[in-house]
Amino acid sequence: MDGHDTLGRRLKKSGNGFLPFLSFLLILVAIPRVAFASLLSGVDLGAPRTILSRRAPNETSPLLNCIQVSPPVLSPSKPSQTQTLMVHTFGWSYGKPFVGNYYPPSFDFNRVTFNFTVTSAGRQYDRLALMFFNDTEIFRTSTAEPTQNGIIWTYIKDMSHLLSMFKEPQKIIFDLGNLVDDTYTGSWNTTLTATFFTAEDTMAPADAIFPVSSRQSASDGPSGFMIPEQKAANAIILPQHIKKAVFSISACGQATEEFWWSNVLSSDTNRFGNDTTLYGYSPFRELQLLIDGTLAGVAWPFPVIFTGGIVPGFWRPVVGIDAFDLREDEIDITPFLPLLSDGKPHSFEIRVAGINDDGKGHGQLTETVGSNWVVTGKIFLWLDSTGSITTGSPPTITAPDPTLAIYSSAKSSTNGTVESLDYSIEVSRSLLVTSTLETSSGRQVVTWQQTLTYSNDGSFTNGGNDQTTKQVTSGSEVSSNDYSKAFDYPLWVYSTYKVLSGGNFTIDGKMRRGKNVRKTGDLAIPSELKTFDFSHSPGQHGSPFQGSMSSDWQNGTASYLAAPALKRSFGSGTTEQYYSLAGIGDAKGDELYRRHVLAVNDTIVLDEETFGGPVLQHSHSAQSRDKQTFAKLGIKAMLGRGPI
Ligand SMILES: *[C@@H]1O[C@H](CO)[C@@H](O)[C@H](O)[C@H]1NC(C)=O
Ligand SMILES: *[C@@H]1O[C@H](CO)[C@@H](O)[C@H](O)[C@H]1NC(C)=O
Ligand SMILES: *[C@@H]1O[C@H](CO)[C@@H](O)[C@H](O)[C@H]1NC(C)=O
Ligand SMILES: *[C@@H]1O[C@H](CO)[C@@H](O)[C@H](O)[C@H]1NC(C)=O
Ligand SMILES: *[C@@H]1O[C@H](CO)[C@@H](O)[C@H](O)[C@H]1NC(C)=O
Ligand SMILES: *[C@@H]1O[C@H](CO)[C@@H](O)[C@H](O)[C@H]1NC(C)=O
Ligand SMILES: *[C@@H]1O[C@H](CO)[C@@H](O)[C@H](O)[C@H]1NC(C)=O
Ligand SMILES: *[C@@H]1O[C@H](CO)[C@@H](O)[C@H](O)[C@H]1NC(C)=O
Ligand SMILES: *[C@@H]1O[C@H](CO)[C@@H](O)[C@H](O)[C@H]1NC(C)=O
Repeated sequence: MDGHDTLGRRLKKSGNGFLPFLSFLLILVAIPRVAFASLLSGVDLGAPRTILSRRAPNETSPLLNCIQVSPPVLSPSKPSQTQTLMVHTFGWSYGKPFVGNYYPPSFDFNRVTFNFTVTSAGRQYDRLALMFFNDTEIFRTSTAEPTQNGIIWTYIKDMSHLLSMFKEPQKIIFDLGNLVDDTYTGSWNTTLTATFFTAEDTMAPADAIFPVSSRQSASDGPSGFMIPEQKAANAIILPQHIKKAVFSISACGQATEEFWWSNVLSSDTNRFGNDTTLYGYSPFRELQLLIDGTLAGVAWPFPVIFTGGIVPGFWRPVVGIDAFDLREDEIDITPFLPLLSDGKPHSFEIRVAGINDDGKGHGQLTETVGSNWVVTGKIFLWLDSTGSITTGSPPTITAPDPTLAIYSSAKSSTNGTVESLDYSIEVSRSLLVTSTLETSSGRQVVTWQQTLTYSNDGSFTNGGNDQTTKQVTSGSEVSSNDYSKAFDYPLWVYSTYKVLSGGNFTIDGKMRRGKNVRKTGDLAIPSELKTFDFSHSPGQHGSPFQGSMSSDWQNGTASYLAAPALKRSFGSGTTEQYYSLAGIGDAKGDELYRRHVLAVNDTIVLDEETFGGPVLQHSHSAQSRDKQTFAKLGIKAMLGRGPI
């Protein structure tokens, strides 16, 4: 994605990971895995079923429909109200966010959903967008790359965890930086609506939300921090009667950090010579929360890949996991409440760490990384009865330095030219924060515990032209607020480029990746189960479940040809996606939702959806009539392999 401050440089790299996924299946997600296995065996991918229609293009609606595969979100049945928050075209919009006003509806509601619908035609990069209510980030998304005839997408998002913010007037700041010229012609026509309604449920949104941000709304500016250019810290005075507090971090790498998971060890950045400098700080990243300078928790980020990433043909019309909805990571900071409830300012800082190494197998976490990460934080608070003051023992923090294992080895040909590089990084760490909390309901020991492991095995071969990355991030987190989460993010990417005569070049890629999450209870942001639309699932309700298990998987193959002399670039690709959502803790443990999509060369050729019953086949009428063209960048920018 293009950084806010640079002319969109899209970078990318290669990856790894099928075995980790299998092991995850065994350990974490037995149920969805079985479901997927049976799904795979039951589907003949070579011969699309006859029910799928491949009709002629629809002349009245030529826009290609892009999707992010995700479970349907509960929408209102009875009384509801819809408000249009934004109708805006982002053309030349760097430094020019949309600014508007939000006023709460006059009737009572406990649910809010967003409908963000975008159309675009022409040629354009993927772009990052951050939306704020005053100084608080409430939604982070990115765009699909348009076609000449145009694309459209709609993303529906449940916003109810921010209910308290929707009960007050807010300044809307929607920042979608874009550049338009003769070559990059695509603008973004956007419509954002909010629908308010009431649902019977057990969601317990925070009573108050405080931002950790650069606080630019008074001057109509977006409030993201850029790391490392800025220190992402605020000093905040919190109310004194808090019984539960959660910190969420919204963060993603841009520019030299977009493909952080394919970066190399700092000692290897010039391994292939000074003309092909690679990006460093290793492929490991850690988001850290520091409260008054003390580590309070960490988040190991999911590797989001934007729609221009690696080979753009992977991501049209099915975008990468989370590309339309960049998720936040959460840290339970309840054990800090005895400290935070003293009515004095406390510092909340978000840092992004990588690894610096000495080239001899030793490394340590850094306090900074390349440029840049766009980060904000939110403090979600649940209040105790008015007048009470939370007290207790100060937190005890057990956070030993992470364990690092680093390896790297280059092979040279007889004339001394480096031919290949192999490297691996393993990181593990645990963290425990505990305190005794005294609130109006008595004395209680509260804890936040994290156990995380990461590995990345990568290689460059073919003189540095080919890269393979195999990465797995996994972890488990437990809090005394009846919450636990286990996750596993396998990633495998292979990419190779060739320079052809006359300046043309090709990139070929393969990828497999997943996001698997098992959750019981919620911190601030509800699980997909709590926001799921059960109307398609007769007899099922959210209530019998103690938790949810979601499993998201994409794999594919794609190619790209850039013809700079023609100012054109072409692509093709096949991407398959499996998504599954299951409830845990009910008698049956049934899978509630499953979707299986296969996209070939800009066209969805298979789309099956299951709500715990028969498989529904969706047909997508319009086969893409467009030439499969994409925005063009240099090789190194496409692959994220160091400065041009
Ligand atoms: C073509 O698209 C229009 C507008 O979306 C829709 O109303 C119409 O039913 C479509 N026609 C066909 C043949 O799919
Ligand atoms: C979302 O909004 C668009 C227009 O802004 C509308 O056409 C579409 O029907 C809406 N989708 C849903 C599911 O509400
Ligand atoms: C975007 O809006 C402009 C102005 O209304 C319109 O001319 C253009 O066709 C729209 N583009 C798409 C792709 O819908
Ligand atoms: C948001 O900022 C506006 C001023 O731009 C202010 O009037 C409003 O009260 C603020 N809303 C909240 C919830 O702080
Ligand atoms: C690369 O650059 C470094 C620092 O500028 C220099 O010391 C080194 O000799 C250069 N290596 C080559 C192969 O040019
Ligand atoms: C060194 O040998 C490799 C093949 O092993 C070749 O590709 C490369 O061009 C050679 N480099 C020089 C400087 O001769
Ligand atoms: C580059 O690729 C384009 C598209 O395939 C082709 O038309 C053109 O001839 C190629 N240019 C060269 C110099 O090979
Ligand atoms: C994705 O992986 C599955 C399972 O290995 C395989 O059957 C399928 O062909 C792959 N799909 C694509 C598009 O590569
Ligand atoms: C997809 O496009 C590529 C490049 O044009 C082509 O080689 C391939 O056959 C196409 N695949 C299908 C299934 O149409």
